This record gives sequence, C-alpha cells and structure tokens, in this order.
Amino acid sequence: MTILVTGGAGYIGSHTVLYLKEKGESVVVLDNLITGHRQSVLNDVPFYMGSLHDQELLHYIFQNHNIEAVIHFAGNSLVGESVKDPLSYYENNLGGTLSLLKVMNKNQVKKLVFSSTAAVYGDPKCVPIQEEDPTIPTNPYGETKLAIERMLHWGEQAYDIKSISLRYFNAAGADPEGHIGEQHHPETHLIPIVLQAASGERDKVNVFGDDYPTPDGTCIRDYIHVMDLADAHYCALKKIRNEKKSGTYNLGNEKGYSVKEVIETCQEVTGREIRVEASPKRAGDPAVLVASSQKARKELKWKPKYSNLKDIITHAWNYHSKKEVHHKNMHYVK
Ligand code: UFG
Repeated sequence: MTILVTGGAGYIGSHTVLYLKEKGESVVVLDNLITGHRQSVLNDVPFYMGSLHDQELLHYIFQNHNIEAVIHFAGNSLVGESVKDPLSYYENNLGGTLSLLKVMNKNQVKKLVFSSTAAVYGDPKCVPIQEEDPTIPTNPYGETKLAIERMLHWGEQAYDIKSISLRYFNAAGADPEGHIGEQHHPETHLIPIVLQAASGERDKVNVFGDDYPTPDGTCIRDYIHVMDLADAHYCALKKIRNEKKSGTYNLGNEKGYSVKEVIETCQEVTGREIRVEASPKRAGDPAVLVASSQKARKELKWKPKYSNLKDIITHAWNYHSKKEVHHKNMHYVK
C-alpha cells in the first residue's frame, strides 16, 4: 500500500516524504512544481508533475499505485498573496481539494491527513491557542483552509473519509542532515530572510512593527521544526490507520519568540553581523501566536524533538550555507 503526498516537492511536503521513506513507507508524489522543487524529492520516489484539478491524472495515480492514504499539502500558502488574489486561493486550495476528494471517494480511499494552518484562528483573544477557540480568519488563505476543514467534516459524514487536519504554527528549520531545506522564491518568511541577510544575499532585515504590545515591541511566533511537523503527519496517519478517527490538532512548541529574539539567535548561530531596519507593520499580523499542542501530544502521541530555537536555526543555517557554496559554484539549480 502506498501513500500519495500532494505537494510533496514543497518545503513541508518534501521533508515529510523524506521522513516517511526513513520509516519504510511506500510513497508517491504529485506536485505541479510551481513553488516546489523537483530536486527536493528523492530519486527513488515515483513523481508526477501535475495539477490536483487534473482528474484523469489523479485517477491514473490511484489506479496504478494501490493508494491507501493521502497526505495533502498541495496549495497556495502566502497570506499577503491571498489578500491580493483571493479567487486563485479559492480555486487552488478549495477547488484542488474538492477534486482530490472526488477521486479519493471514487477509488474508495478513506484516509486523509490535511495541511491546515494557525491562520484559521485569525487574531486570537488569548494564547496559548486551543483547537476549540474561535476560528475567525483575517485573510483568504486562512479562510480557504478553514473551508476545507469544514468540507472534510461533511465528507466524513457522507462518505466516511477519515481525516486529520493539522494546524501548523510557524514551520522552520531543515532536514538535520542538510539535504533539503526551505527555499521559496521570493522568500517571505522570517528565518530564511534573516539567514539571507547573514550570508550577504540581502543587505538587511526589515522588522515589521516595533510597537506591538509585547515585551520588546515585535511580534511573537511559535516556531516548529519541519521534521517535527513531518513526524506529526506520520503520527496522524497512524492514528487514522489504527483508530479510524478524524480530528483537528495544533502543531507548535507552545513557546513564543519575538522577531528580535529570532534575529539575535540567528546572529549567534551564524556568527555574522545582521543589519536590521524598523519598518511599518505588515497588514493582518497578529501580535502573538502561540499554540497549545496538548491535544496532539496526548492523542497523536506526538513529541517534538527539536523544540529549541537555536537547533531549529542551526539546521536552517546548515542547509542555507551549503546552498550558498553550491550557488557560488553554479551547481545549484532552482
Ligand atoms: N517578519 C519581519 N520581517 C520579515 C518577515 C517577517 O519582521 O522580513 C515578521 C512578521 O511580521 C511576523 C514574523 O516575522 O511577525 C513571522 O513572519 P513569517 O512571514 O515568517 O510568518 P507568519 O507568522 O506571517 O506566517 C505564518 C505561516 C503562515 C500562516 C501564518 C498565520 O507561515 O502560513 O503564520 O498567521 F498563515
């Protein structure tokens, strides 16, 4: 039996594929390579370049690979972009998942792990955030992910598709061996941006807002190692396999770090000077986002391994500096 990983060439998807292979699972990847990278997927993993909207291709994959379950990452994931172009988010995220569910149902595949987000909560009334707290997204990205969670709920009632939605907080870090890591074009996430400033690929880091109601005035986020996220997907799959139960879980370290603290830790890890500039707030950024992940720890038996921010940044830097050398030698292909 094989697991289909949609979006398996993306940042979190590719780390999950690596992890599943380490666990001895059989995996096949579908990715349209718009934001993913072919070279992030191991060569011995069957790879299909294509879209979730292509029902024929999906049918082909389900029929030819004995698919047991789907881990579904494929989708658009930038908050700012979703505000500028909401329709493409509804089309790709909601429409893509709808297409996938139709084919799963036709092929009697009843297990799904879904990549959701902390953005479903919007601006939280209190932290740490718990799964039953109000979900009031403040952007179309969070809105589409929440709509998918609801669609999965009704999909279970009608078709008995069991699904687990994982609401990630801030994914960060890289494969500790340094084979794969985070590479978005353009990059918008804090840690890779700070590391680019450390390596001289950009001249400074803009700190978006320094008068938030937090101890140092900058936003606080809960950073979670990408390999711990990969492990959570595996724990979720095992829960569906063993208990045939659906659910929704937060994934975070339950500890918040400010933008300033992240920059200081990057400075410490890299040993390089990082130029910082105070900039206006980014629209829609909540001051503090910290997860309660008690439910995942208890029910999924999930235990993050790399909860220390320094370890997370060290792994990201290992990958980043390796990439830097490749880049200089012109061996690195986008
Ligand atoms: N930040 C800066 N400068 C930068 C980039 C980011 O100051 O150049 C700040 C942001 O304002 C924010 C923090 O660093 O306070 C983290 O920003 P990221 O862009 O790295 O991550 P977000 O918290 O905005 O986004 C994450 C996930 C999204 C999810 C969102 C939920 O990446 O998928 O949390 O709010 F939707």
